[in-house]
Amino acid sequence: MLQILLLLLPGVVRNMWTVSYPPLSSICAARGSNVSINCSFTYPQDQKVQRELWCSVTSNNGYCVDEPYVYDSKNNNNQKNFQYIGDKTSNCSLLISNIDQTHSGEYKFRFITGNIKWTGDPGVKILVDVSMSRSRENGSTIVGDSLNLTCTLSCSGNLADVQWFKNGDPIQQSEPVLTFSRVTAKDSGKYSCSLRNFKTTVSEEISIHIEDVVRSPTVLIIVVFLVSLVFITAAVILIRR
Ligand SMILES: *[C@@H]1O[C@H](CO)[C@@H](O)[C@H](O)[C@H]1NC(C)=O
Ligand SMILES: *[C@@H]1O[C@H](CO)[C@@H](O)[C@H](O)[C@H]1NC(C)=O
Ligand SMILES: *[C@@H]1O[C@H](CO)[C@@H](O)[C@H](O)[C@H]1NC(C)=O
Ligand SMILES: *[C@@H]1O[C@H](CO)[C@@H](O)[C@H](O)[C@H]1NC(C)=O
Ligand SMILES: *[C@@H]1O[C@H](CO)[C@@H](O)[C@H](O)[C@H]1NC(C)=O
Repeated sequence: MLQILLLLLPGVVRNMWTVSYPPLSSICAARGSNVSINCSFTYPQDQKVQRELWCSVTSNNGYCVDEPYVYDSKNNNNQKNFQYIGDKTSNCSLLISNIDQTHSGEYKFRFITGNIKWTGDPGVKILVDVSMSRSRENGSTIVGDSLNLTCTLSCSGNLADVQWFKNGDPIQQSEPVLTFSRVTAKDSGKYSCSLRNFKTTVSEEISIHIEDVVRSPTVLIIVVFLVSLVFITAAVILIRR
């Protein structure tokens, strides 16, 4: 509808301050993929665009009047993940590469002409699918502890469609929560999860190290050492006789 209006009424539109994002409420991205946000902007003909900015509501707020920006055309040290693929006249598209969970959130385009600053608000929301959390954050886990790993799917609704991996190999678990009521040393490994039907969208790996509290190798070495000592002593005594 908007596009038809744009075609029919170019004269009117050219005199408006607008920023248009994709019409969807949010863009769903697979972790690790490259996502482009299609964006276009208009402004009165007598203006000249001098600066293009993109901000994230995660680190900024409101109309993103001040820094920080994820992209600033005046800054040569923009984050590598954020690439401006638009232009200086009407296309404000942004490419986010190798997207991960920390990039989820709302983004807004802001542009500055000679005397006017304009921000496209509300912005566009990005959801990064498939992430994982564990019930115990820090340190290693001890044998007998309980531990839960939770696979979170932000976009796809069906939580039953989860595939778990241990050290990269699929395991027989389709529940979104992987529960270890009493962990054993065998549970040590690297865990990840994905959507059953989209194996490429794999979560980050969580490494679990289960500490075995029984120090059997050390005990064994001491026992072997003591037994040998007794034998050697006995042998020395026997030879000296
Ligand atoms: C971006 O918008 C243009 C023009 O509306 C359209 O042709 C193109 O397919 C869009 N690209 C994406 C990735 O949505
Ligand atoms: C903006 O430019 C990008 C990259 O060249 C292109 O893919 C996209 O379709 C353009 N969007 C519009 C609305 O023209
Ligand atoms: C994503 O973009 C980066 C840099 O722009 C590129 O090196 C990489 O090959 C792209 N990956 C995919 C999956 O397109
Ligand atoms: C985990 O570590 C972080 C930083 O190292 C700390 O802020 C947090 O309080 C710790 N959490 C627990 C449950 O120990
Ligand atoms: C793991 O989940 C189970 C069942 O959902 C719960 O009873 C248990 O307390 C959880 N364990 C931890 C360590 O959060």
